[in-house]
Amino acid sequence: MKKVLTNITDFIGSTPMIELRHVWNGKAKGRILAKMEFVQPGGSIKDRAALQIIKDAYKNGKLTNGQPVVEMTSGNMGAGLAVVCGAMGNPFIATMSEGNSPERRRIFNALGAELVLVPQVDGTPGKVTGNDIAGAVEKAKEIARERNAFYVDQFNNPSCVTAHYTSTGPEIWNTLEGKIDAFLASIGTGATFIGTSRYLKEQNKNIYCAAVEPEKAAILKKGYVENPKHIIQGTGYCLVPPLWDPKVADEIITVTDEEVKQQTRLLAEKEGLYVGYSSGANVCAAVKLIESGVLKENPIVVTVLCDTAYKYSEL
Ligand SMILES: Cc1ncc(COP(=O)(O)O)c(C=O)c1O
Repeated sequence: MKKVLTNITDFIGSTPMIELRHVWNGKAKGRILAKMEFVQPGGSIKDRAALQIIKDAYKNGKLTNGQPVVEMTSGNMGAGLAVVCGAMGNPFIATMSEGNSPERRRIFNALGAELVLVPQVDGTPGKVTGNDIAGAVEKAKEIARERNAFYVDQFNNPSCVTAHYTSTGPEIWNTLEGKIDAFLASIGTGATFIGTSRYLKEQNKNIYCAAVEPEKAAILKKGYVENPKHIIQGTGYCLVPPLWDPKVADEIITVTDEEVKQQTRLLAEKEGLYVGYSSGANVCAAVKLIESGVLKENPIVVTVLCDTAYKYSEL
């Protein structure tokens, strides 16, 4: 008999890797490979961080059986935590900006989480800004105080980086048996990029690691923000993430909303990969990186397809 899972959390991580053959016909030669993170139980890459955070919190005595867990989320961390907390028997409360897509509210309800919506400050529906996020953070802290809940604090929680250092990085390295030239990822908390890049660079310091930012909200690249509104939900919050480590970034590549929309559409139409905008942004940046000529000839470039497009109203 094949292995039968005994807990949904066993299905987090170990995602398949796919080669993207049809989304681009760049003049420069190379291969783009992508980890299908959206197949996880919560529908996104954030399941990895959610599981690590809860495991570490139990281990460090910060969380006990039945204690509530609270977190600010743009949707994906909330879904991951709802899955993990549900499986562990901890009630989960999510605080989220009203600007995130309504699909995400339905998901929280279905997974048994409690949702507290926070009005937008300067964003618009579908475009969530750093100030909008700050409002949701304040609400989460308030709930933690009032209900003695464990506050996840994903932007400051090192477990998020550990998750990718101990899973995403080794999975990529082992699948490719070390044959990888570059890795790219968009920046939300930065954990995916930092944890994965740190592990890969420790195996081979020549692996080129590039972070991806929205063109007009490229705080890491430019040090200032021209326009906080962009379509890449879950990333580009106009702040230098507290977990940020400039040592692992060889380059920061920017992408425009139009480029991202086009690439995301191509991923669905040509590859059957129905994924969200940050996945499109990552692939778009991978194409730019190959075409820039900074890598060796015929490079193998790896990125992540972060979440499913079923979470977006407009896709
Ligand atoms: C859709 C999506 N893409 C990318 C990211 C960025 O991941 P990280 O927080 O690890 O930087 C997130 C984070 O929430 C996300 O929701």
